[in-house]
Amino acid sequence: MKKPFGLLFATALMAVGSLNAQAQDDIPEDMKALMTKHTCIACHRVDQRLVGPAYKEVAKKKYTDAQIVELIYNPKPANWPGYPPMAAMKQVPKDDALKLAKWINSMGGKAPAKKKA
Ligand code: HEC
Repeated sequence: MKKPFGLLFATALMAVGSLNAQAQDDIPEDMKALMTKHTCIACHRVDQRLVGPAYKEVAKKKYTDAQIVELIYNPKPANWPGYPPMAAMKQVPKDDALKLAKWINSMGGKAPAKKKA
């Protein structure tokens, strides 16, 4: 099934472009849903300090996925001097916590992180 690939590609690019223009951040839809459901989004963004650290900064700490899950359940404010303490989020199901952890860690090596503001 041959399709005009160029056209498809252009459409895909446009879709990505408009997504980026709308969203203040590059959060994939499924992660945005989890972040919203569990309120993480109130305090965290990918690339920008809010109440809590940018997830890209968290990724730099090179935690394992399991360590991040543990930190969601039992935050260690001492890891983030200058931030208010995060409340323990024990209501987040393990599956969801793990998905968020994997996503946070996926920001690791990608795109040299910006200098800390
Ligand atoms: C009310 C604001 C708030 C909410 C909601 C919140 N966080 Fe945080 N988060 C913080 C702050 C502040 C810190 C830094 C201080 C700390 O770790 O206690 C932090 C730190 C973290 C860290 C780094 C832990 C470490 O020790 O390096 C991770 C990972 C994290 N949050 C994930 C999440 C996830 C996932 C959610 C949603 C399930 C969430 N946070 C919800 C404010 C919040």
